[in-house]
Amino acid sequence: MRATFRAKFGGEPELWARAPGRVDLMGSHTDYNLGFVLTLPISRDTWIAARATGGNEVRVHSMNFDADERFTLPVTSHSEQWGNYVRGIAATLPLEGFPVGGCELLIQSTVPVESGLSSSAALECALATVFEGLWNWRLSPERKAVLCLKAECDFVGVNCGILDQYSSCLGRQGCALLLDCRDLTTRTVRIADGIQVVICNTMSRRRLVSGEYAQRRADCEQGAAALGVAALRELTLEALAARAGELPEQAERRCRFIIAESARAAELAIALEAGDRAAVSQLCAESFAGARDLYEICSDSMQSMMEAMLHAPGCIGARQAGAGFGGCMVALVESSSVDSFRLSVRESYGHSSGLAPEVYAVDAAEGAQLMEWSMLA
Ligand code: GLA
Repeated sequence: MRATFRAKFGGEPELWARAPGRVDLMGSHTDYNLGFVLTLPISRDTWIAARATGGNEVRVHSMNFDADERFTLPVTSHSEQWGNYVRGIAATLPLEGFPVGGCELLIQSTVPVESGLSSSAALECALATVFEGLWNWRLSPERKAVLCLKAECDFVGVNCGILDQYSSCLGRQGCALLLDCRDLTTRTVRIADGIQVVICNTMSRRRLVSGEYAQRRADCEQGAAALGVAALRELTLEALAARAGELPEQAERRCRFIIAESARAAELAIALEAGDRAAVSQLCAESFAGARDLYEICSDSMQSMMEAMLHAPGCIGARQAGAGFGGCMVALVESSSVDSFRLSVRESYGHSSGLAPEVYAVDAAEGAQLMEWSMLA
C-alpha cells in the first residue's frame, strides 16, 4: 500500500486506519427487530492510508477495484458502488459537527465484496476512523457506528440494521460480541478453546437481496404493528402463539423465526463459552431450519453448502450468515480438524454445486482503529 500510495499520490501517507468485516454466529435479521445478535468481527479487514491535502478535494483510489473516485466538498452528488460509501461518510459526518477536508485516500480490503461479510460497513468504519485522525476530532465506537449506519441509510439508501457497523466499530480481539440491539449494549463472549469459526463462501451471487430484505423487514413491522408492540423484541414465543390467529400466515412465520432466533443468540453465547458442543449443534440446526422454512432466505446453493459442512470432519454446527440469499455461511469446527473440514467441504460442495467454494478460518479481530506505521513495519 505504501508503494501504491507513493505511485498514485506522491509522498507518504500521514496515517493509517483499519476496520474489520463481520460474521454473525447467530441472529439473522434480528437487529432491525431490536433483538440479540452474536457477532464476530473478523480477521479480514479494510485498510486506508491517508493524507490531508488542504483545499476541498477528496481523491481516492481502490486497490481492489483498481479504480479512482474524486469529488469536492461539500458532497452534493452520488456515485456508483464503493465510491458512494466514501461520499456517504464525507457527507454525513460534517452534518453531525465533525468536519472533513481535502485528502488523498488509498483503500485495500481483504473482506470479500457482496458476500455477506459486511465489506461496506468495514469501508465506512475505516473511513470514519481515518477522518477522525486527519481532522482531529474523536468519536466513541458506539457513536461512530451509529453515524456510519446513518450514512448507509440516508446517503447510500440501504435501510439496514445496526449489526454491521456496530460489529466493525466495537470488535475486541479474541472475543465474539453479544449485541443487544434495543439498548445497544454488548457483552464480550470468549469462545471455548478448541472451537474454530470457519467461513464457507458458496460463491453464488447474492440475488434479490435488497428487495427481499426490505420485504422481510416490512413483514416484521406488519407483525409488530398488528400485535401492538414497537418491535418484535417485545414478544415471547408464547405471546405470539396466543395471538397467532391475528396475523396473516406469512407474517406469523416471519415473527416466529425472529423471536426464536433472538433467543438463540443469547443461548449460543452461553453454549460457546462453555464449549457445549451438543447445544451449539442444535442451536445452529434450528437457526438454519428456521431461515429456510420460516424466514425463507436460503437458496439452493446454501442448502448444498449446509449439507457439505454438516458432513465434513470436525463440524460442530453450521448455519447461514449475513442477509442470506447466497454468499457466505459459517461453521463452528473442532480446531484440530480445520484442514480436513476445508478439504471435505471443497470436494463435496464442488461436486454438488459445480462451484469452487472459499473456505477459511477467521479469528475475532479488534474493531476500527488508527494504526501507527511502527505497528505495521
Ligand atoms: C445485512 C444487514 C444487517 C442485518 C443482516 C441480517 O447484513 O446489513 O443490518 O440485518 O443483513 O442479520
